[in-house]
Formats: sequence, structure tokens, C-alpha cells
Amino acid sequence: MQLDLNFVLAAASLLMFVGFLAFFGYLIFHQQSLEPKEKTGAELIEQHYAAGETIEQPTPYYVAPIPAAPDPLEISANLDRKILVGAGMLFAVFALVGGYFFTIFVVRADAHSERWRDKVASQQQLDKSIERGRNLYANFCFDCHGKTGLGSTDPTRKDLPGLPLNKPGFKYDNIQSDPTKLKAVQDLLTLTISRGRAKPPGSISMPAWSDHEGGSLNDEQIQQLVSFIMFGTDQDWADVVTVRQHTSGAEDGHLPLEPNPPKPEVLTGINLGRQLTLNNPQAACVSCHSFDPNTPSTLPTAPNLGHYGTQGPLNNENKAKQAAGDSDYLLHWIQNPPAVKPGVVMPAFGTAYGGSLSDDQIRAIIEYLQSLK
Ligand code: HEC
Ligand code: HEC
Repeated sequence: MQLDLNFVLAAASLLMFVGFLAFFGYLIFHQQSLEPKEKTGAELIEQHYAAGETIEQPTPYYVAPIPAAPDPLEISANLDRKILVGAGMLFAVFALVGGYFFTIFVVRADAHSERWRDKVASQQQLDKSIERGRNLYANFCFDCHGKTGLGSTDPTRKDLPGLPLNKPGFKYDNIQSDPTKLKAVQDLLTLTISRGRAKPPGSISMPAWSDHEGGSLNDEQIQQLVSFIMFGTDQDWADVVTVRQHTSGAEDGHLPLEPNPPKPEVLTGINLGRQLTLNNPQAACVSCHSFDPNTPSTLPTAPNLGHYGTQGPLNNENKAKQAAGDSDYLLHWIQNPPAVKPGVVMPAFGTAYGGSLSDDQIRAIIEYLQSLK
């Protein structure tokens, strides 16, 4: 059980207070017993025997006077010490009461309406969650997001496919004052980790981790990863490598200490062509054409190429070339359309004409276009 500071302070105050009362009680009692009763001169004479009684008279003898109290000087010296100790205890009580109110009004005020004990409890729970999230990270995310969560922004590992997770925009401290942002970050992290993010062929995707999505982590573990990303300190991130050092694996008995991301699949043929056509910012065929028969082209004058494999060539110039036996008519077209049909808005893509596509790349695109039946 965690000892609540409030409880400790209150108990200590109470003890001090009781001790304080007891001490003064004792002081009064002791002081009284030390000091001889003052004679007022008005004391009644006690008569122990009834009138006419025979009294046995002891043989009188001299009894030396025994001092009723120690030296008065010693009494007063002791008294000073007692007063000093008492005053000290009094101040201790004040200090404890002060400390108690300080925690109530200054420390606890920070907890808003939440009870402090709950806060301590949830802080402990959060710490556990961060720690578990860190361990999960070290096992499952390290290879793509890197040693300290910098992902592709890690200056020592520019080849990492993952995005940075250890970044200011994800940290609770930086966004807690903006509930909208806080919620957005929580959702982004939870959803991305759960469902992953598919990237086009030829690049590395963020895998889906949720066991509802075929992954290997349950909801709680995903929550722990989110906690780690949002609440983890620099030290927590630095500990990732240590966790791997202490996790048994193939290399020297522990897990490898350098991230080893999967290599992107090398695309060839139709797959490369599809990639170059659909996901290539440099030759943005999709900015004009649609390659899906059911979606119109962005530029109305650019034909929908969704059935090009069965319908091409389309314009008269290209038809004529094909009819004349030019089996490379499409290569020439994509290399430099205005040379085939002057005034056409489709720009030259061949590197020889100021474009960005090599002949091999254009041939891969053609292979893809021919596959669109
Ligand atoms: C196989 C490599 C790989 C692994 C393993 C991997 N990721 Fe990723 N992750 C990626 C890639 C690639 C992206 C970027 C996707 C994109 O470009 O949008 C990404 C993106 C993310 C994002 C979104 C970041 C943002 O700013 O949008 C989060 C969050 C994330 N990963 C968390 C994790 C966590 C947590 C793990 C471990 C359980 C993990 N990833 C494991 C490859 C990986
Ligand atoms: C700026 C818009 C634009 C871009 C970008 C563009 N095209 Fe075109 N493309 C057109 C237009 C317009 C036509 C119709 C030309 C005509 O016949 O008048 C066309 C025609 C075509 C044809 C039909 C040729 C035929 O007649 O058989 C093919 C194939 C083609 N484009 C492929 C591509 C590919 C592949 C890319 C990307 C590498 C691309 N286009 C980029 C505008 C564009």
C-alpha cells in the first residue's frame, strides 16, 4: 500500500499534539511536586484526636530537617529546559499543521477535483503502462522506428521506414492544454497502431498490430504503446536499447542493438509500372488520367485509361503509327507526346526530352497499361 502523505502528516500532527499535551501535563505535575506548598498563614490546624482521648506520646527526638525540594536554582534551570523543549514541540506542531495545509492548498490544488490518492494511484498505473509500452516498442517497433523513436528523422539511420514517434507534437505535456489536439493525437496513435497504414508496393507499410486486425497485440498493449509515446521521457526512450540488451535473442544472447528494417520489395514489370503510374509524384499521370474505368479522369480531355489494354491506341496519330508497324508507338508517345501530336497538353516524360522517366521505366508503365483490360 502506498502511504499517503496527507495521512502521514495528519498522524504525525496528532501524535505531536498528544505528546505535547502529555508533556505539559507532566510538566505541571512535576513542577508542583517539586515546589513546596506555599504557606499562606491561614491554614487550619488539623486536629487528629477527639477531645479527651489518651494520646500515646512518642519519645521526642530530634529529626533533622530534610529539604523538601532540591536546590531552587536547579529547579529553575530544569524549568528553562522544559520550557525550551515544550516550545520546540509547539513549533513542530505548527510546522506540521502548516505542511498539511500546504499540501492541501498547493500540491492538491493541482489535482483539481480528483482525489489526490487517486492521482497517486493513476500515476503509478501510468508508470507501469509506460514501462510496458517501452518494452513492447523495444520488441516490435524498434526495427522501423529506431533506437530512440526518431524513425526516418534519425540522423544516424536515414534508411528507417517508420515516421518519428518521439516528437514534441505527440507529447502529452505539449498538448494537454488543447483538448482537441490531445484527442486527435490519441486517436491517430491508437488507430495507426491498431490498423497500420498500407503503403504502395515498393515501400514499407506500417503493419496493423491489433489482434482484431490480424496483428499480435491486444487493446491494452496498444494503449501501453500510446502511453509510452505520449508520456515517455527521454530516459524512457534511451532505455529501449537497454531493454533489448536484456531480452534474449539470437545475437550474443540478446536482441540486435541496431534497427534492421525490412527491405522494400524490388518491383519489376507490371508492379513497377503500376507504382510509377499511380504513385509517382514526379510523373503525375493521375493528375490528368483515371486508370479506373468507373472514375472519370481529373482532366476531362485526358482519356480514362482503365481499359487501355483492350482499347488503345486511342488517338489517330497513335493508331496510324501502330498501323504502320511501330510496335514502340506508346514508348514514343510517353517519351514526348507533343512530337507525336503537336499542341497536346500531355508533357514529355522521357529523360531525353526533359522528363523524369527512363526508357526502362516507360516500358514498365506500358506493361501496366497493356494489363488494363
Ligand atoms: C515494418 C516497419 C514498421 C514497424 C515494425 C512498425 N512501424 Fe510504425 N510505421 C511504419 C511506417 C512505414 C510508417 C509511416 C507510414 C506513412 O508513411 O504514413 C509508420 C507510421 C507509424 C505511426 C504514425 C505516425 C504518424 O506521424 O502518422 C505510428 C503511430 C506508428 N507507426 C507506430 C508504430 C508502433 C507503435 C509500432 C510497434 C508496435 C510500429 N509502428 C511498428 C513502419 C513500421
Ligand atoms: C497534363 C495532363 C496529362 C498528364 C500529366 C499525362 N497525360 Fe496522358 N494524356 C493527356 C491527354 C490530354 C491525352 C489525350 C491526347 C490526345 O489524344 O489528344 C493523353 C493521352 C494519353 C494516352 C493515350 C495515347 C493514345 O492515344 O493511345 C496514354 C496512354 C497516356 N496519355 C498515358 C499517360 C501516362 C502513362 C502518363 C504519366 C506518365 C500521362 N499520360 C500523363 C494528358 C496527360
